[in-house]
Amino acid sequence: QIRILATGPATQVQTYSAKLIKGPRQTLQQLPDNFLGPVLNFQQGQKVRVFFKNNLNEPSIIHWHGLHVPQRSDGHPMYSIESGEQFVYEFEVMNRAGTSFYHSHSHNLTAEQVYRGLAGLIVVTDSDERKLDLPSGEFDVPLVIQDRSFGDNNQLQYVHMMHQRMAGFLGDRILVNGKPDAEFKVKSAAYRFRAVNGSNSRIYKLGWDDGTPLTAIGTDACLLPKPETRPYIMLAPGERVDLWLDFSGRAVGSKLVMYSLPFSGTQPGMSGRGMGMMHKGLPQGAKFAIATFSVTEKVGDSIKLPEVLVPFQRLTLADVDNADKPLPIGISMKPMRPLLNGKSFAMDKVLDFERVALGAVKKVRIFHDHEMPGGGGMKHTAKVEVENPMRGMRMKKPMDHDESGQEHGGGKKGMGGGMGMMGGGMLDMAHPIHLHGQQFQVLRRVTGMVKADYASVKDGYIDSGWKDTVLVMPGEEVEIIKPFQDYKGLFLYHCHNLEHEDLGMMRQFLVE
Ligand code: C2O
Ligand code: CU
Ligand code: CU
Repeated sequence: QIRILATGPATQVQTYSAKLIKGPRQTLQQLPDNFLGPVLNFQQGQKVRVFFKNNLNEPSIIHWHGLHVPQRSDGHPMYSIESGEQFVYEFEVMNRAGTSFYHSHSHNLTAEQVYRGLAGLIVVTDSDERKLDLPSGEFDVPLVIQDRSFGDNNQLQYVHMMHQRMAGFLGDRILVNGKPDAEFKVKSAAYRFRAVNGSNSRIYKLGWDDGTPLTAIGTDACLLPKPETRPYIMLAPGERVDLWLDFSGRAVGSKLVMYSLPFSGTQPGMSGRGMGMMHKGLPQGAKFAIATFSVTEKVGDSIKLPEVLVPFQRLTLADVDNADKPLPIGISMKPMRPLLNGKSFAMDKVLDFERVALGAVKKVRIFHDHEMPGGGGMKHTAKVEVENPMRGMRMKKPMDHDESGQEHGGGKKGMGGGMGMMGGGMLDMAHPIHLHGQQFQVLRRVTGMVKADYASVKDGYIDSGWKDTVLVMPGEEVEIIKPFQDYKGLFLYHCHNLEHEDLGMMRQFLVE
């Protein structure tokens, strides 16, 4: 249950109440009513208090993905609360206008809790956005995209076998805003679609069926400086993109389908197709429809796409204090363990981190680290005392079906993969890397080592605005510039393939 009190520039109080349901009784038919949490509407500058009551029978905590909030309100897993307990978040909305989302962040339980519905959309508005003439109200439509699997009696089905978790969960039904076979009735006017990839590990290559290029007006948590057009847009787990589509030239009765277009190379071990924790066969990179938009009503003149959106300051190497010594985020996979900087996150090592001075602006290098399959230590790593609510708190052991190879949920069919994927191919899969705290900018991608398959994704990146999650393809290296302002404390960074995150592919900065 989530209850929100928000006061701020407009002194308004919003109260939401939503049941976050987890359990065996969740069926496809029930999804439309209870699947995602409520949409949270915030304004920049508002002070927000959130009451999160854990009605599950296991620990949980919520993270506000994209919002720049203090450590204590960031949903770090060390703040997980037990069944029946309440956690009160307090933060000021520092973000500019954009699209974010919230989701469970309880270590080892994140993937399954999100899978079963512990997530929802966050919309932030600000004064720069209000100066623009952007589609609003019924013309501002969320598209939270998730893949799920349903077993007998339409029960949501999740799998826990280790080799499947290593590849990440892939479902065979695509849900938009919690509904399968999504269909939207639209008017002949301009729309803003807030696309959120809320899937555990599926990557989408968004495209329109008639070849219309995609126009983006925002990326993770922020509007772009100006609209960007692409033939398709890659949307990895945790990423958002705000799309502009004008239906005004289209006839009543016409339909437009949003697809995920075919791509390859995210899991090269599988001859480019990728298996994942596939259920009934919808591989990573397969082509499928996401949602259909039917024009049902003719309306008058539509608003025009603005040429310029919001003020933007491009960060350069002149802004950072470590141009030659980037903070490393090294990706490696050893059997059964995806790692960052050669290490695995665990709740009993919650005080293991890299240090960054408050106010610093850093270059960060995200790369596939083939030197470090498991070993190695980070020079910046240190242990000091910081606020650690874990002390004295009993940790409930997370469900762990890995060793036995049992999955619960009763599924027994169609689990692809096998141990073969633990070999070389898995070492080089794609990872969406997410950093908590402030948004960053992509400085450049180093693509000298990428495989031929890269051609099927490379025109789909939008790196020209603010980001908090970035897709790193096999062989690819991404350099980013990230400010560490406003708040001291522990801020996580991790793979947003949620199975990888739960397996420990997560570390943190101590901002001090
Ligand atoms: Cu969307 Cu740390 O997560
Ligand atoms: Cu986050
Ligand atoms: Cu990963």
